[in-house]
Amino acid sequence: MAQSVRILMCAPQHYDVDYVINPWMEGNIHRSSRDRAQEQWQQLYEILKHHATVELVEPQLGWPDMVFTANAGLVLGDTVVLSRFFHPERQGEEPYFEQWFADQGYTVQKLPKSLPFEGAGDALLDRTGELLWAGYGFRTELDAHPYLAQWLDVEVLSLRLIDRRFYHLDTCFCPLTDGYLLYYPAAFDTYSNHLIERRIPAEKRIPVDEVDAVNFACNAVNVNRTIVLNQASDPLKTALSARGFAVIETPLTEFLKAGGAAKCLTLRVTEPRQISPQATAIQHRVVRFEGHLLDSGLVNRALDTIVAGGGSFQVLNFTLGEQRQDISTAEVKVSAPDITIIEDILGQLVDLGAVVKSDDTADAHLAAVAQNGVAPDDFYVTAIYPTEISINGQWIAVQGQRMDAAIAVTQTARGLEARCKLLRDLQMGESVVIGSAGIRTKRHDTSLKQRSTEEFSFMGAGVSSERRVELVVEQIAWDLRRIRDQGGKAVVTAGPVVIHTGGSEHLQTLIRGGYIHGLLGGNAIAVHDIEQALMGTSLGMDMQRGVSVHGGHRHHLKAINTIRRCGSIAQAVEQGVLPSGVMYECVKNNVPFSLAGSIRDDGPLPDTQMDLLQAQADYARLIEGADLILMLSTMLHSIGVGNMTPAGVKMVCVDINPAVVTKLSDRGSLESIGVVTDVGLFLSLLVDQLTKLTGEYARAN
Ligand code: ARG
Repeated sequence: MAQSVRILMCAPQHYDVDYVINPWMEGNIHRSSRDRAQEQWQQLYEILKHHATVELVEPQLGWPDMVFTANAGLVLGDTVVLSRFFHPERQGEEPYFEQWFADQGYTVQKLPKSLPFEGAGDALLDRTGELLWAGYGFRTELDAHPYLAQWLDVEVLSLRLIDRRFYHLDTCFCPLTDGYLLYYPAAFDTYSNHLIERRIPAEKRIPVDEVDAVNFACNAVNVNRTIVLNQASDPLKTALSARGFAVIETPLTEFLKAGGAAKCLTLRVTEPRQISPQATAIQHRVVRFEGHLLDSGLVNRALDTIVAGGGSFQVLNFTLGEQRQDISTAEVKVSAPDITIIEDILGQLVDLGAVVKSDDTADAHLAAVAQNGVAPDDFYVTAIYPTEISINGQWIAVQGQRMDAAIAVTQTARGLEARCKLLRDLQMGESVVIGSAGIRTKRHDTSLKQRSTEEFSFMGAGVSSERRVELVVEQIAWDLRRIRDQGGKAVVTAGPVVIHTGGSEHLQTLIRGGYIHGLLGGNAIAVHDIEQALMGTSLGMDMQRGVSVHGGHRHHLKAINTIRRCGSIAQAVEQGVLPSGVMYECVKNNVPFSLAGSIRDDGPLPDTQMDLLQAQADYARLIEGADLILMLSTMLHSIGVGNMTPAGVKMVCVDINPAVVTKLSDRGSLESIGVVTDVGLFLSLLVDQLTKLTGEYARAN
């Protein structure tokens, strides 16, 4: 009997399911049998006594989970890092465990009060003794991991738990003798799985399936070649014995009702140290927020972003503005298990308006473009918000703001210039902003003045009621008129549905009225519009009677052919061949348009730009300086436009399909409005409303 291993247990006299702090406890309050628990615990105790020396800590009345000694702390050598329980329900166990360790002569390390860490439940030494796997996500805070590294002088690898059922690392992860690992991969995020795969060779990994996982097969006590656990499937037992392990099953069903099994009921208090001092990869940065942080929900969003991205945070300070118009400031320390994860999180926080404080200088970091059309690896990807970067201590505004670009910095005669550039436009020798330091984005103040427009951006509501459609139409009519009268710019992206739904006449009215200053679409809208103008059908349907016309399916090709003969849409208008329609009105009213081609285009029309890079450039030129963009039933062209459009431009997306509306309007900027309705109906309401407002034209047509 190898008695060099010492294990701490706590008898279940006072064990019960008294409260719910994990999903296993739900529905099990006072449902476990004390007698059966006693019996099961005793059996485990007898088995373990054959393999180790079992020490006991006195159970305490009122602390029913104290049986789970794995959560007492984490021992390495003669040091113990005491647990700081996440839930108040268990915090009262701390002094009893502390006393036990002190009595045994351990050096007791205690974490700061508000830094949760749940001992060996969330920290498991690799059995080769070389590193410590530490879990976070539910009970233990990532920021506790560096303390473990420091106090225990060990390399810590942080693993993020993502399945509530496996809230402690030891419920789904069990390092075994000889470097084997028994684990349930689905309990971890992708990054953690990569980390495990990088550090443990495939032949040493023993993944279990969900059935074994929920039977707590990974919650096993391993002493040398013996594994003691609640229950394992035959294939798992075979896999383990093939690797030289003897599996002992002992039922622990009463403890499963509290979310624990064999491993949870034990704590190894002899952990020899054979470890060379190591560092951890954990990264920290401090970010600063300023603005109407509470009103706008920004802080919540930022903290959620950090956690969802696999990091953790500590709010260092928060100064709350006292009056409604006062701004608040907050400094938050962000931690993440490694450099790529932290950079990813910081990039998102910058988009939310955070400023990342770097240690050395406050300036943005730059790197040279080494190959035309290719950015340095960790280049900063732009968002739609106005952005500034700090260079030599000066904030300079980035030109040509759009999303999904790099920021190129060039020296010009006027001084340093920063500009959003698409990857394909980057030139060798240019400098590009990398990382996330020294960058700030200005979000619109979403708290006060925009409250009024918020009523119109009812994406949260999903489908808009009729009254809401009316409200939006009133608002947009008002905007369109203001923009026209002030010499502003309103651009439309339109899909062929505009024509099929009878919206054509209304769109024509808007163009004639001087409300529209650019039209963006594809081959289809122009083809259907022209077909309707020439033949009265749209894709062969009679637009007056709503029935398909004999031979009508060829109409659109005839329309294309006619325009091709004329040379262009404008020439067709000039030659009197094209007498009406949306495209006709564009030509007549000098409204520039751009038709972007696609793989499915028939024809195409001579005006359709089949060089997509050129089409993107044309679109970008036409929306430059726009105040409002009306997106009418075209997901493809609208997304293309959305990608080029900076924040501050009002975007109104109309589509009968709520999913399209959500996709397009959900840019996180309040200027976007989604309207779920028939686009023909929408346009007719809009024209009616403008008529009411201006008395300009009696009911169109
Ligand atoms: N009811 C206990 C809790 O939720 C169970 C602890 C299980 N322990 C463990 N190391 N997984 O805290």
